[in-house]
Amino acid sequence: MTLLSIRDLVVEFPTPAGVVRAVDHVSLELGFGERLGVVGESGSGKSVLARTAMGLTRKGPARISGEVVIDGRSILGLSERGRRALWGREVAMVFQDPLSALHPITPIGAQIAEAVRRDPSVKKEQAAKRAVELLEIVGIPQAARRAKSRAHELSGGMRQRVAIAMAVAGRPKLLFADEPTTALDVTVQARILDLFDELCREFGIGIVMVSHDLGVVGRHTDHVAVMYAGRIAERGPVKAVFARPSMRYTSALMAAIPSHRAERQTLPKPIPGSPPNLLAPPPGCRFAPRCAFATDRCGTEQPTLTELSGGHEYACWHPGQEAVR
Ligand SMILES: Nc1ncnc2c1ncn2[C@@H]1O[C@H](COP(=O)(O)OP(=O)(O)OP(=O)(O)O)[C@@H](O)[C@H]1O
Ligand code: SF4
Ligand SMILES: [Mg+2]
Repeated sequence: MTLLSIRDLVVEFPTPAGVVRAVDHVSLELGFGERLGVVGESGSGKSVLARTAMGLTRKGPARISGEVVIDGRSILGLSERGRRALWGREVAMVFQDPLSALHPITPIGAQIAEAVRRDPSVKKEQAAKRAVELLEIVGIPQAARRAKSRAHELSGGMRQRVAIAMAVAGRPKLLFADEPTTALDVTVQARILDLFDELCREFGIGIVMVSHDLGVVGRHTDHVAVMYAGRIAERGPVKAVFARPSMRYTSALMAAIPSHRAERQTLPKPIPGSPPNLLAPPPGCRFAPRCAFATDRCGTEQPTLTELSGGHEYACWHPGQEAVR
């Protein structure tokens, strides 16, 4: 069954300089307990996509069209109150900066207990107990004692664990994680990512993980969507996309990450140029100005998503795995 269905989503921000189309006709699906990675360079629309999919983008400052359905419920048309009722209970988000999600003075146990009590049937004492259990689940040592700590008394990794405990306190079905480990050192990052995997396996939570790190997405997701300038460049099962990247931007992105494997002694190749200005994106394929394989057609005609096999789709007129001629 489908947990999250995004159909033909367009998000635009009118600005004094013109209209920024941050998300451009994006469609994606995710099943219960599945993990989807959304990757792409800075400014490709990853955060706007995730925030809009959980109902956080405000209409007015933004123009939104298309559809987002979470567990059978269409969310874009919901009132502010309707969306607030959804947050925590159905969907939750873990941000890059855990301090933004935590209150500076309230002890962390009390904050988590408050999140647990969004379910009105849970009594106060039960919620406090559950808060300590959640701290144990996310791997906080001496959880009962730590529950009395305040956010600033914890390390960055611990804070992110607490933010995750808060996010899952209301037992959401769907968790958005926007660069959840970018600010953390590598070992802490690995432990947090393992924790996400566990939450998926044990609680059947679906996870949308936004990351600029292809390596993280390769190891910790089932499906991947590569975004470029607001559009889906390629998507599909992560193994298939990694084995055979086809849109030239995906190939370039993969060639840009250092290989740690001794048998692949290739040096990372940075992608030349920079992503387009979304106020005036190039017509046709938006990657064309940076692509070594671009032809006249690429400069005028927008490539549509074409299926390669088993749900692996790419948008490219001249697909292939080499990033450089
Ligand atoms: N409120 C806003 N008003 C105007 N433009 C916006 C607004 N929010 C986002 N944008 C623009 O939308 C585009 C996509 O932004 P977004 O934050 O989704 O990128 P991202 O892929 O998450 O990048 P990063 O990796 O740096 O986090 C950017 O060009 C950004 O400047
Ligand atoms: S459509 Fe053309 S410009 Fe775009 S990635 Fe493919 S080859 Fe390159
Ligand atoms: Mg972002």
